[in-house]
Amino acid sequence: MEIVILPTPEEVGRVAAARIATVISNKPSAVIGLATGSSPQGIYADLKRRVDAGEVSFGRARCFALDEYVGIALDHPESYASVIARDVVTPLGLDPSHVRVPDGRADDLEFAAKEYEAAIRAAGGIDVQILGIGANGHIGFNEPTSSFTSRTRIKTLAPRTREDNARFFDTLEKVPTHCMTQGIGTIMDARRLVLVAQGKQKADAIAAVVEGPLSSFVPGSALQLHEHATVFVDEAAASKLKLADYYRYTYANKPAWQRDQ
Ligand code: F6R
Repeated sequence: MEIVILPTPEEVGRVAAARIATVISNKPSAVIGLATGSSPQGIYADLKRRVDAGEVSFGRARCFALDEYVGIALDHPESYASVIARDVVTPLGLDPSHVRVPDGRADDLEFAAKEYEAAIRAAGGIDVQILGIGANGHIGFNEPTSSFTSRTRIKTLAPRTREDNARFFDTLEKVPTHCMTQGIGTIMDARRLVLVAQGKQKADAIAAVVEGPLSSFVPGSALQLHEHATVFVDEAAASKLKLADYYRYTYANKPAWQRDQ
């Protein structure tokens, strides 16, 4: 696992976006896994800057979102389908027909989850998966004790996750209780993982993901098993890492040809 500690949240977005831009430049039809929430906003903003500057194009890219709430209308402003359309599809000029979000409204949720897995496979798998991290260590909405081999399915949101996401809703009661999420096994199948975290409220989770034992109690610790995972953090999110100086040293001495890979 590569750990990149950057001075500010803005730098986290900028440097992580450079990785995504490299993937799409090498393969314009790349399949990108999208996260929602606050953490990847800096990535999307920097990628929009690159699109506007003509540096990169997402016209042929295909995307799969990590997760979606269950029991929320498609046109609700906080459905992840709406969030992805607003924050990613429009700004980056993606073809909406190339972007899938799990169907949390399907009559048969189990079938819809299996079909989502099949669609990812049919697209050739995910080239690069963008991830945030929950304060409780979740990736996607794989809450603590999720199996490392889990696939897309319905999960119950942890109380901490509902509280954290209440900022997007009028009241805590309006935050859905369930979701459909790519499993940890699904996420681990992506060829590259790019996880971003900013702020001291993520410091414990980052320390557990990077330096803690492998444990389904910290779903993000599964990244330790991935052959191409990079964790981009600002100083606040890095503040509980024991080997922070070593990570700074390795990044500072990374060969130039490897820099954005
Ligand atoms: C979002 C997702 C979640 C978030 C995590 C952090 O699609 O899968 O794992 O990445 O809850 O959320 P923020 O970034 O809002 O702190």
